[in-house]
Amino acid sequence: MSYVKNHIDAMSPYVPGEQPAGPRRIVKLNTNENPYPPSPQVRDVLRSVLCEELRVYPRPDARKFIEAVAETLRLPREMLLAANGSDNLLLMIARAAAGPGRRVAWLQPTFPFYETQARIEASEILEVPFEDDFAFPLQGLIDAQPAVAFIASPNSPTGTAATTDQLETLAKAMQGRGLLVIDEAYADFSDAHALELPLRYDNVIVLRTLSKGYSLAGLRLGFAVAQPALLGQLWKTKEIYNVGVLAERIGAVAIRDQAHLRENVAKIRASREKLTVNLRARGWTVWPSQANFLLARPAGGDARGAFETLKAGGVLVRYFDKPPMDDKLRITVGTDEQCAALLRALDARS
Ligand SMILES: Cc1ncc(COP(=O)(O)O)c(C=O)c1O
Repeated sequence: MSYVKNHIDAMSPYVPGEQPAGPRRIVKLNTNENPYPPSPQVRDVLRSVLCEELRVYPRPDARKFIEAVAETLRLPREMLLAANGSDNLLLMIARAAAGPGRRVAWLQPTFPFYETQARIEASEILEVPFEDDFAFPLQGLIDAQPAVAFIASPNSPTGTAATTDQLETLAKAMQGRGLLVIDEAYADFSDAHALELPLRYDNVIVLRTLSKGYSLAGLRLGFAVAQPALLGQLWKTKEIYNVGVLAERIGAVAIRDQAHLRENVAKIRASREKLTVNLRARGWTVWPSQANFLLARPAGGDARGAFETLKAGGVLVRYFDKPPMDDKLRITVGTDEQCAALLRALDARS
């Protein structure tokens, strides 16, 4: 006997990356967190928060945070909506726009949470495979004619990104027919972004998070950029208080500290290039990445073996056991010291 709807009973749950408890000696390169601390101003906020502030509900519109985003990114406030991480925005979008008889499309491979959300809403599902070398399959997506397309750019786990021109072509093709969701979780590490598209297209929604570039994955804070009419629809599917008092205050100072963001991103991009070179020197295939992780295939393709070796050596990376990913690893770019520990663990194996 199942007490839930048949399609929920039949679906598989989302499998998150491992979050080991206990001593921090492990080198954790499996869930694309930022290895550097958040802005020092975050600590100042934590020191100054009064218990009295926690007694009352937060503002449903996370106003302080939204004002800070608007000023920092020079976007109109009415085009911003905050949430408990971009996961929470994906859920709101699926609630509003997916469902029976409505086709939801995404690329394969990509962030598996799109599928989770589409299945919860019992949507029609269409997966569009990436082209060779994980290039963006623009025509395949246009031909799919979805009611909703979820596109991560840069994409996880491939690290590849669509160009703004490609995304604009897709936005244009889908206008009047479907919603284009551009998930920019990793855009802080990338050469390009699509923040200006929602200003011109009423069917585009761009998602940003403070989890990656701003080192605040534990806080749970993200925001959407879209035209006010579309945000008004999403507002209806939102939990009432989806951003807590702490997240609103911390998010406001973190996003204003762009100097801190730039400094961390520059370090991670430099480490990304070094790690690419070092893995290639060991015979690995490494795809060019625009994100804070690398997709890499060991010589011979025994990714599971490399994963186990690294784990035994105290280094945790991400292994997905299904094709086309089962001969590759997704490796978060850590500090140079963490990357060196990964290479040492690999070298100890051979
Ligand atoms: C492509 C993509 N989108 C969204 C998320 C979730 O981000 P958040 O922490 O804001 O929920 C992730 C997390 O790894 C991701 O890889």
